[in-house]
Amino acid sequence: MSNIFSLEGKNAWITGASYGIGFNIAKAFVAAGAKNIIFNDINEAALERGLANYKEAGIENVHGYVCDVTDEVAVKALVEKIHAEVGQIDILVNNAGIIKRIPMHEMKREEFQQVIDVDLVAPYIVSSAVLPEMMERREGKIINICSMMSELGRETVSAYAAAKGGLKMLTRNICSEYGEYNIQCNGIGPGYIATPQTARSVSARATAAAIRSTVSSAPRHQRDAGSTRPNSADRRCSSPRTLPMPSTAMSSMWTVVSSPTSESSPNNDLSGC
Ligand SMILES: NC(=O)c1ccc[n+]([C@@H]2O[C@H](COP(=O)([O-])OP(=O)(O)OC[C@H]3O[C@@H](n4cnc5c(N)ncnc54)[C@H](O)[C@@H]3O)[C@@H](O)[C@H]2O)c1
Repeated sequence: MSNIFSLEGKNAWITGASYGIGFNIAKAFVAAGAKNIIFNDINEAALERGLANYKEAGIENVHGYVCDVTDEVAVKALVEKIHAEVGQIDILVNNAGIIKRIPMHEMKREEFQQVIDVDLVAPYIVSSAVLPEMMERREGKIINICSMMSELGRETVSAYAAAKGGLKMLTRNICSEYGEYNIQCNGIGPGYIATPQTARSVSARATAAAIRSTVSSAPRHQRDAGSTRPNSADRRCSSPRTLPMPSTAMSSMWTVVSSPTSESSPNNDLSGC
């Protein structure tokens, strides 16, 4: 029987894969035999950093491009370029993402919208751009990097949770809409992984301790008389105080990625983004 995990001969496009989770997915794909890795990032500096990372990892069959995944025209143009310079796109990983930790009532509409655009609208844009070729070939894989926040809610991440919850349902819908074309779509809901996205805002150790001590479904603790509520500025980048562990809420279509990236520390396994 052939190795069903082999990616031999496959071209994989991973959005936002200069570093972090996307870069590590790329490395795993190469180890599984992928023929070409295609990645894009938002600007030249990120692209250069990515190309250097791939070089350092000894990955040669890589094609990097600058492209903002929220720009529909640019994405369509990039798909054409990939076809011309690399070939067909067998696998798409919608990985590019952002998070803004701001209490919802303080979040500007533009800030909320930006998270929705990158984390939910962009996977629609990029998937829509590659689906026609996959439908024609009657073969294709789309992987959406969702989150534990696809299932849960938490302080300060309203836009992110809304987007990642939507991405989970977009994943399910792609399955039902394009399954007949032999196109599979899966969502991955990683737990906390230390990457540039998470490193800025929380200390992994503090996060893990906070999570162990609280459960989001539990009622908020009554504050002692005279205690002061943290002001909003503090909460913008605060460590999360409420988060349950991922559990049976994850449906069978989910894989929980727990393998740390090279930037991770031993204490970073519990939080959620
Ligand atoms: N790190 C975690 O703990 C965690 C947990 C759950 C889910 N995720 C998700 O995993 C994915 C990768 O996260 P990460 O932690 O590696 O983040 P990261 O910040 O390290 O990488 C995200 C990449 O996306 C790129 N990007 C952002 N906006 C873009 C745009 N408009 N166009 C093109 N590229 C853009 C960034 O430049 C960066 O290279 C994201 O979707 C994130 O929400 C991360």
